[in-house]
Amino acid sequence: MRPERITLLENKRIILAVTGSIAVYKAVDLASKLTQAGSAVDVIMTEAAQKFVAPITFQSVTGRSVYTHLWQAASGVSLPTHIAHVGLGEGADLMGIIPATANTMAKLAHGLADDLLSVTALAARCPVVIAPAMDGGMYEHTATQANVATLIERGAYLIEPEEGRFASGLVGRGRLPETTTLIGHIRQILGRDGALQGRKVVVTAGGTREAFDPVRFITNHSSGKQGYALAQAALDAGARVTLISTTRTLPVPVGAMLVPVDSTQDMLDAVLAQTQDADALVMAAAVSDFRPATKAEQKIKKSADDSAGLTVTLVRNPDILQTVKARRDATGSPRVVVGFAAESENLLEHAQDKLRRKGLDLIAANDITATDAGFAADTNRVILLDKDGSQEILELMTKAMVSERIIERVALLLG
Ligand code: C5P
Repeated sequence: MRPERITLLENKRIILAVTGSIAVYKAVDLASKLTQAGSAVDVIMTEAAQKFVAPITFQSVTGRSVYTHLWQAASGVSLPTHIAHVGLGEGADLMGIIPATANTMAKLAHGLADDLLSVTALAARCPVVIAPAMDGGMYEHTATQANVATLIERGAYLIEPEEGRFASGLVGRGRLPETTTLIGHIRQILGRDGALQGRKVVVTAGGTREAFDPVRFITNHSSGKQGYALAQAALDAGARVTLISTTRTLPVPVGAMLVPVDSTQDMLDAVLAQTQDADALVMAAAVSDFRPATKAEQKIKKSADDSAGLTVTLVRNPDILQTVKARRDATGSPRVVVGFAAESENLLEHAQDKLRRKGLDLIAANDITATDAGFAADTNRVILLDKDGSQEILELMTKAMVSERIIERVALLLG
């Protein structure tokens, strides 16, 4: 199990074209992460890019030749033809111009073909994604904006630069996003024709928080990791994804719409609103069955007469899945509903009972007593039970892999 592998990126050939920006150092990390994820990364460097980083750096992290000039032969690696500027583009899955300078974008917008990058961009038939990076307000210039608009109109994907501090010390929009964001965009483009293309999937994540005063709440050990991984897997399959989450610390997968919530009641409201036009709901959240009967307006203080302790009365929360079931029985929507069963005993019995009671199509049962699975772990050991009585026992795998298997089942159920 190699946690850095990403199924969508496995065996993809990516052309990473880097231009003369200080942000080239971030492209080294990107090349490394894409390679670890399983892609073959062919790097093209402009002359200016080589002022910032040497070709050997990219060659070291990708294990492949780096291309620096137009007349270079494609030797020693598997390209479809020996003419580098044709061979690189031929059969590539994606070309990323990351970071892209104002100069390179101007050239591409006008179809110039005077170096390996610009010739390859003309020859490539794969999606092209451009991540501009430049200092000192050059991105905001009308000329740059016009070139960006031309490239988008022609079908290029844009990764917007971020606001922040430049190498010059100035502050503005023009910074290249971090690797995880860049990879998130690349995944969205590569996954666009996936099995869930055109579908909307709602995923819930994290443990609900039930407040009893303005600073204290009751919750559980759920980290939200499984839910976030499910959102990413649905995005990789081409879905539109809404992530209803109590977790604030995990990075939101690129392309997911986040609906932050705290309590079970908030989550219920959000689920009902978001599933109105959804194809599938995956309830990975660990929902509190009880909440404090009242919430104090002010922070509860110690006092002289509380030596016997403080009693917090709990009342039952609504069951979100039961509520969804009631609506679904009437409207038929969402078509597919998946639940989770985290159990410390009689796993299958409890899971089967929940599947039936909550009207689920599929339930992912996991034994929370295992140390390598369940809450907070990066791995999970899950059994998938469906409403027709079939059982699929998944071996120990990353939460990302578990998510892919669940999302595959969702796609099958949607037909
Ligand atoms: O009944 P239990 O909490 O074990 O059921 C687990 C499944 O039901 C999970 O998918 C969880 O998200 C969902 N659930 C719910 N509303 C609750 C409690 C759990 O939708 N109040």
